[in-house]
Amino acid sequence: MSKPKILVARAIFPETLERLSAHFEVEANQADTLFTPDELKARLADKQGVFTTGSERIDAGLLAACPALKICANMAVGFNNFDVEAMTARGVLGTNAPDVLTETTADFGFALLMATARRVTESEHYLRRGEWTRWSYDMFAGTEVHGSTLGIIGMGRIGQGIARRGAFGFGMDVIYHNRSRLSPELEADCKARYVGKEELLRSADHVVLVVPYSAASHHTIGAPELGLMKPTATLINIARGGIVDDAALAVALRERRIAAAGLDVFEGEPKVHPDLLTVPNVVLTPHIASATLKTRLAMANLAADNLIGYLVHGKPLTPLNPAVLAA
Ligand code: GLV
Repeated sequence: MSKPKILVARAIFPETLERLSAHFEVEANQADTLFTPDELKARLADKQGVFTTGSERIDAGLLAACPALKICANMAVGFNNFDVEAMTARGVLGTNAPDVLTETTADFGFALLMATARRVTESEHYLRRGEWTRWSYDMFAGTEVHGSTLGIIGMGRIGQGIARRGAFGFGMDVIYHNRSRLSPELEADCKARYVGKEELLRSADHVVLVVPYSAASHHTIGAPELGLMKPTATLINIARGGIVDDAALAVALRERRIAAAGLDVFEGEPKVHPDLLTVPNVVLTPHIASATLKTRLAMANLAADNLIGYLVHGKPLTPLNPAVLAA
């Protein structure tokens, strides 16, 4: 019997590719070419599965042109590149890569918070420019982290990981806002208190965004929300580009309406709003929150296991639209 055909849309770990090749006829892309939507469509015309990395758009137009497609496996926990409704309507399964990246991403959220509050990159650039000639009492004085108030918007697994780091590692008072409130057990586990979004923005010293992207969460933080924050506060976005209005944030940073921001994700990335590149009080990283080799390999292998699980055994591990399985 011939093997099912799949496309691996981007370069991935050779060992993951090897695992996939044992089960599938694989069209790989180890040259890491970025396919245009039309190229992706053409390559998927005869494929039953696709391994995506979070940026390849799977929508109704593509699905209509790819009748053999049965599964799209994202090597990312976020899946805003999938039109899940259109996939369900076409009987195409979507899977993501949750859990394996939770603690690594929470580590990074905290790293970005620390770097932002304590002005790590700004002071390093100053040193590298050779401008450090003497000590002064307020040189790169930042914002306190320990004992401060940490406000988390989006209290899924990653948000909870950040809350635990803040509460137990840094003695922070943790408040959170989420679509739904956590159970009393989970709140106790994270030592976190539920508050309204406005109260969170007004009282947090550090606001961390971990909310999934959707039309409803677009510009969760824009000029009005930035206006509610303390002038000494920091804002950290490890969620998705588009959760923050980057143009409004650049203005707020330049005018010191908030103290600083740490951003791992951007509207229209890998492009970055030009005004963010010229304000000093922002730490910018290229969407690397889950980037340790161990975690990225676990994410790639989970995406591969979803392809193998579904196309070979009929049992995916982390389905996004299980209605497809019941049909
Ligand atoms: C990364 O942004 C992910 O969604 O896994």
